[in-house]
Amino acid sequence: MPLWGRMLPCQHGGATDVSATTMQQDQERPSQLQDLGEERMTYKGAPLMSVDQTWGTPDSFMKYLEEAFGFVPDLDAAASLHNAKAGQYYTEEQNSLTKNWFGNVWLNPPFGKVMLPAFLEKCRDEIAYGKCDRIFVLIPARTDTKWFHEIVMPEADLVYLIKGRFNFVSPNACESANAPFPSMLVTYRKDRSFSPALIKTLELSPKVRGF
Ligand SMILES: C[S@@+](CC[C@H](N)C(=O)[O-])C[C@H]1O[C@@H](n2cnc3c(N)ncnc32)[C@H](O)[C@@H]1O
Repeated sequence: MPLWGRMLPCQHGGATDVSATTMQQDQERPSQLQDLGEERMTYKGAPLMSVDQTWGTPDSFMKYLEEAFGFVPDLDAAASLHNAKAGQYYTEEQNSLTKNWFGNVWLNPPFGKVMLPAFLEKCRDEIAYGKCDRIFVLIPARTDTKWFHEIVMPEADLVYLIKGRFNFVSPNACESANAPFPSMLVTYRKDRSFSPALIKTLELSPKVRGF
């Protein structure tokens, strides 16, 4: 059973973090992280009105991804003990941006102006050079931003614009909050043969969005 299926409200999941000692840092791989350089650091896109950056994805959405896409994550690339969606995960302390990703990767990244583009650059590099089969990313649908046009569109497989908003789960999994922004699901897969990404709409029931 996938991890999210075992998690109960207000309980810790059974996931284990991926020890820094068991994972190699990805210093040897080619990286395009410098491409945006200072531009990334001084990024002036639309304000990312975010809820707390540890608010989690509803389990109902993870269940939907399994049923609709056959997607069960091997790795949650941005998580904590309380909100991990896969059996293996990287935490802020470990810093996923410095680690190798693998298999089917789930990512609901921190939404900060620097961290969000940095995680999207990491998706671009991992799908091109790493050991990921698929990466599924849930992020604010900021389609007017530089990162969307320059980092996401050239490398992603599909962008699903989600109709309706999410009700994200609180850090202790006891509360939820209606997101003040629209969301999109961005999917990457190894060896895709076309560019840029296709854009589709995705209509989800309120239950799947966490209501
Ligand atoms: C929006 S939450 C998503 C949580 C969970 N993965 C989910 O989908 O419900 C983002 C998580 O990323 C963690 N995080 C922040 N910076 C990180 C980093 N550099 N590496 C790994 N995780 C990080 C935060 O602590 C937080 O738990």
